[in-house]
Amino acid sequence: MAPVTSLSDSVHQQLASALSATRPDAAGADPLLRRSDRADYQANGILALAKKAKANPRELAAEVVAHVTTGELIADVEVSGPGFLNITVADRAITGNLAARYADDTGRLGVPLAAEPGTTVIDYAQPNVAKEMHVGHLRSAVIGDAVRQLLEFTGETVVRRHHIGDWGTQFGMLIQYLDEHPHELDHSGGEVSGEEAMSNLDRLYKAARKLFDSDEEFKTRARRRVVDLQAGDPHTLAMWQKFVDESKIYFFSVFEKLDMEIRDPDIVGESGYNDMLAETCRLLEERGVAVRSEGALCVFFDDVKGPDGKPVPLIVQKSDGGYGYAATDLSAIRNRVFDLKADTLLYVVDARQSLHFKMVFETARRAGWLNDDVQAVQLAFGTVLGKDGKPFKTRAGETVRLVDLLDEAVDRASAVVREKARDLSEEEITERGTQVGIGAVKYADLSTSANRDYKFDLDQMVSLNGDTSVYLQYAYARIRSILRKAGDVRPAARPELPLHEAERALGLHLDAFAEQVTEAAREYAPHKLTAYLYQLASLYTTFYDKCPVLKAATPEQMANRLFLCDITARTLHQGMALLGIRTPERL
Ligand code: ARG
Repeated sequence: MAPVTSLSDSVHQQLASALSATRPDAAGADPLLRRSDRADYQANGILALAKKAKANPRELAAEVVAHVTTGELIADVEVSGPGFLNITVADRAITGNLAARYADDTGRLGVPLAAEPGTTVIDYAQPNVAKEMHVGHLRSAVIGDAVRQLLEFTGETVVRRHHIGDWGTQFGMLIQYLDEHPHELDHSGGEVSGEEAMSNLDRLYKAARKLFDSDEEFKTRARRRVVDLQAGDPHTLAMWQKFVDESKIYFFSVFEKLDMEIRDPDIVGESGYNDMLAETCRLLEERGVAVRSEGALCVFFDDVKGPDGKPVPLIVQKSDGGYGYAATDLSAIRNRVFDLKADTLLYVVDARQSLHFKMVFETARRAGWLNDDVQAVQLAFGTVLGKDGKPFKTRAGETVRLVDLLDEAVDRASAVVREKARDLSEEEITERGTQVGIGAVKYADLSTSANRDYKFDLDQMVSLNGDTSVYLQYAYARIRSILRKAGDVRPAARPELPLHEAERALGLHLDAFAEQVTEAAREYAPHKLTAYLYQLASLYTTFYDKCPVLKAATPEQMANRLFLCDITARTLHQGMALLGIRTPERL
């Protein structure tokens, strides 16, 4: 099934040829077409053209109008204001275009694939081993997974990397403790749940920490363990592996709760680059990118200085020979560029790490690993705030555990579902409550641009009115119910019928789905798709108020309206799926 050319693209083409037919020097000029309240589209490009040609814009606009063929596509075009064109599209063209999208049996609704897709490695959902997941990890996972799906939908080859924090000096302490208390991670009773896994780790971490702080001899033994770990001592490595495995059980349970697919081979943590670290340092030093300073291997930048005015370097290797976060990230870049053959590296990471990435990317450019053809981008996200506008904390001032937050969202959502439910069983209420609750959390995160902070407000998130996933999910379920009442047949579009104002508005918006998806993918901006879908649900609501569907005046009109209902449902479903949000058939 061929992709469908959108109405705005077709109108754009016609205007562009009218422009060049009017004046040869206007060939290639952009008519600057926008959706408009006054007509279907407005073209503003003539103003700039008139200025360049020293012509009267209204006169030039009138000349262009004379060169526009009205008919099949454009029903009407007129000059307005200082020299704009107001364009009205034919009803037949709207319905016809939607029918072509509807006929796309690939489920893509006529959305084209990118002309020249590339390979993107996306680094997202990267919690830390032996630590509880918090709201920051939520954002990386939710935004990252939406962007991943958007990119895949446009045809990009996407490699997922979960750069989990699985290496570092804290493991010396943990391993030493476990070695001395060998039964603490034993699972003689069979399978462990995610929750058990975390409480095991938590208990162990606290106990190890306590001993580390109070017992000098344990501290010494723990430090020696770090050296053993780095040297690759097999017994120590096996102990370390136990922590990683236990943590993964926990991570998988949280990601499952989040209704998100994380695949084991895509988890390549910091430790995955250990073999490359020495080589990375050697290359950087050889190329003069990094220099020894007070024993450490450092990279300096003109514009990165501390409060005292002294340059703050990126430390690639510490003076004691240890490697840190930067060495790992630089090695990961080499792996992603040269082994995975990426042309884009995307990092969905907290804005508070922006300086780190700025320095790492610049270092990689100086080393020649990144260049004009291979780019790295941090999709930096803001902080999650509490209702009070301060960073989100529990009453006791502790970081909020992600699982608690998700459980609460599901509880609240279940209450909302239960209140509205008429013919749902208890089991269905639980299932819908989960889909609505998790959807609400994801939607709230995806409905503001990622770089902004946002307030975590569960009351607002599960509200039925307003810009929430619940509102969209109810809109979808309502449409599905209408379609069921009509017998769940595939309605046939009737392009010959004149359209009501509300049908036109809905239809034009539906036609813009492809552009919105493409733009959201290109700009790594899932919030643009979210805004589009919210508007779609609103336009549908207006349509439904104004235009009787099951009680339409004629069977043809009923068919055409059912068709509009169905394509709206499919667009909502597809759009929400790209955001990782479920659309239950009944609510
Ligand atoms: N594990 C880190 C954290 O929790 C995020 C890792 C980000 N990715 C990277 N390549 N550095 O803050």
